[in-house]
Amino acid sequence: MKIIRASSYQDMSRKGANIIAAQIIMKPNSVLGLATGGTPEGVYKHLIDQYNQGDIDFEHVTSINLDEYVGLNHDHEQSYWYFMQKHLFEHVNIHPENVYVPDGSNLNADQACQAYDYIIQRYGRIDLQLLGIGVDGHIGFNEPGDTFELNTHKVNLQESTIEANKRYFASSEDVPREAYTMGIKTIMQARKVLLLASGASKAAIMREALFGPVTPRVPASILQIHPDLTVIVDQDAGACLPE
Ligand code: GLP
Repeated sequence: MKIIRASSYQDMSRKGANIIAAQIIMKPNSVLGLATGGTPEGVYKHLIDQYNQGDIDFEHVTSINLDEYVGLNHDHEQSYWYFMQKHLFEHVNIHPENVYVPDGSNLNADQACQAYDYIIQRYGRIDLQLLGIGVDGHIGFNEPGDTFELNTHKVNLQESTIEANKRYFASSEDVPREAYTMGIKTIMQARKVLLLASGASKAAIMREALFGPVTPRVPASILQIHPDLTVIVDQDAGACLPE
């Protein structure tokens, strides 16, 4: 595990974007596992800048996103599909047919999850998986539980997750209670994992995830045994990590 300490959110974002840009330059047909949330927004801004400057090209890139709320269509402004279009895909030359997000509009969970696993299997391993972390240690929407869920599955969101994500909705009642998420096996099979954390609300869970026991009660703790994990924290998120 490599921990990079950034001085600010901006610095974390630039460093994260540089790692993703290097991945695309080194392997133009990379399969990226991309994430939503406030944390990666700055990374996407920097990637768009690098694309506009001609430094990176998404022509042959594929993106397989981590998760989606159940019940939200693509055109719902809080769907993760919409988030990815607005924050990255609309601004670069990625081909729409190379972009995947679990289908939240399909209420048949078995069908939606199997279809996503089929897509993942078709591509094989993800080259670089970008992750944020929830305050309860979730990655994607893999919430704390008794076991690590391996494949794409439906989850019931924890109260703390609903609370944290309600800022994007009119009220907490409007936050969907369920989501589809890529499983832990897919995340762990990625060749490289890049975990980002920003802000004081992530400080305690970052310590638990990276230095506590590996347990499905803290889903991100499994990343400790990933062979190629890079973590970038800003000052606040890194405050509880050992020197
Ligand atoms: C959501 C997403 C996660 C993300 C988390 C943290 O629950 N499903 O992928 O890591 O929020 O979000 P933020 O970056 O806004 O703190």
